[in-house]
Amino acid sequence: MKYTLSTFLVGQLWPMPPVLRKDLSEKTAIVIGSNTGIGYETAKHFASMGVTRLVLAVRNREKGEAARKQLEEETGFRNAEVGIVDLTSFESVGNFVKEFEKNLDARLDILVLNAAIFPQLHNSRTKDGWETSHQTNHLSTSLLALLFLPLLSSTAKKYDTTPRVVVLTSGTHYRIQFDKNLIESENPLRHFDSKDYFDPQNAGAAAQQGRYNETKLLNVFFARALAARTPASHTYPTFITTAVNPGLSYSAGLNPDTDSRILKVAVSVLRFIFARSQEQAARQAVWGALADEAGINGSYITETTITESSDYVIGDEGVLAEEKLWNNLVDELSKINLKVQEIVDRYLTIPVPH
Ligand SMILES: NC(=O)c1ccc[n+]([C@@H]2O[C@H](COP(=O)([O-])OP(=O)(O)OC[C@H]3O[C@@H](n4cnc5c(N)ncnc54)[C@H](OP(=O)(O)O)[C@@H]3O)[C@@H](O)[C@H]2O)c1
Repeated sequence: MKYTLSTFLVGQLWPMPPVLRKDLSEKTAIVIGSNTGIGYETAKHFASMGVTRLVLAVRNREKGEAARKQLEEETGFRNAEVGIVDLTSFESVGNFVKEFEKNLDARLDILVLNAAIFPQLHNSRTKDGWETSHQTNHLSTSLLALLFLPLLSSTAKKYDTTPRVVVLTSGTHYRIQFDKNLIESENPLRHFDSKDYFDPQNAGAAAQQGRYNETKLLNVFFARALAARTPASHTYPTFITTAVNPGLSYSAGLNPDTDSRILKVAVSVLRFIFARSQEQAARQAVWGALADEAGINGSYITETTITESSDYVIGDEGVLAEEKLWNNLVDELSKINLKVQEIVDRYLTIPVPH
């Protein structure tokens, strides 16, 4: 699908349907990056539906506890817990999953991979050595999903249910495609991470936006690739993955790292006119987690509707890119966490074409 300025404007101004509500008693949900913004509002919706266990997964305990308290005050919900995960550290991602799985009764019905950042001009590399927005938005986000596959699968089996993985992406993925040279290079993700490809120190606002868009395109590819490899139990997948575009909304963190006052004012004006509230944006994440429409597995969702992704993603070049990026991701994440390859071999299957 082509995404024009008018598609964006109409979408933004279209009234958002009320939140899709389901009874979530007995269910467990984890929302990554839920101390603020869309993540917080998504968690709050789950709380209002009586979810049994709700984990606010955040990188800063103080902020997490403040969010938990606020949630309790706003909804009366007392079952939220704070979990610590910092996506700039693969070790932290591994520890978070391990900690969660420690509880033998643990189940996981809904995993919302919401946390993301704009590229940083300072602290532009993580201590693992990757460019910060790449590791946060794509590598660690994908690692979390993969490390949770055993629990998602056991939840499906034990409780006869279909868990969900929801990846927050963006409509900005329509504005970008990867160069053939990147995809055909020996190791696209390493190339993507190199300073030759993107140099944060010298990145102006447009380059930062471009980089962010690329990480969101990686999210779309990841969701599609994961869904295509999910085994079916009878005729239904064991778990469902969706890629959700919440649309432009107010955001604490997702702003270009710039000194330009003109740009800052321009972003504020754009948001003032067109942005949805974070609560409205969160309704889309909830839809991605709860809707039962045919074809939802691997779908891209916007305005609470399954929508065709970009022409690039669904075209021949995109199909090749998806395959190459998936294999490359599994190789790279397997070097970081030895469990990854074993999980992929055990819990996923050969891809079914979209
Ligand atoms: N807002 C929009 O207009 C918009 C549009 C399209 C798509 N999206 C997508 O929607 C999602 C949420 O956006 P938002 O506007 O709600 O963002 P936000 O207000 O900036 O919140 C981002 C959340 O991610 C957390 N986070 C950042 N880095 C992290 C890390 N290393 N480890 C763990 N958590 C980390 C933040 O924690 P701290 O508070 O500690 O920083 C915060 O809780 C993102 O995936 C974004 O790409 C947003």
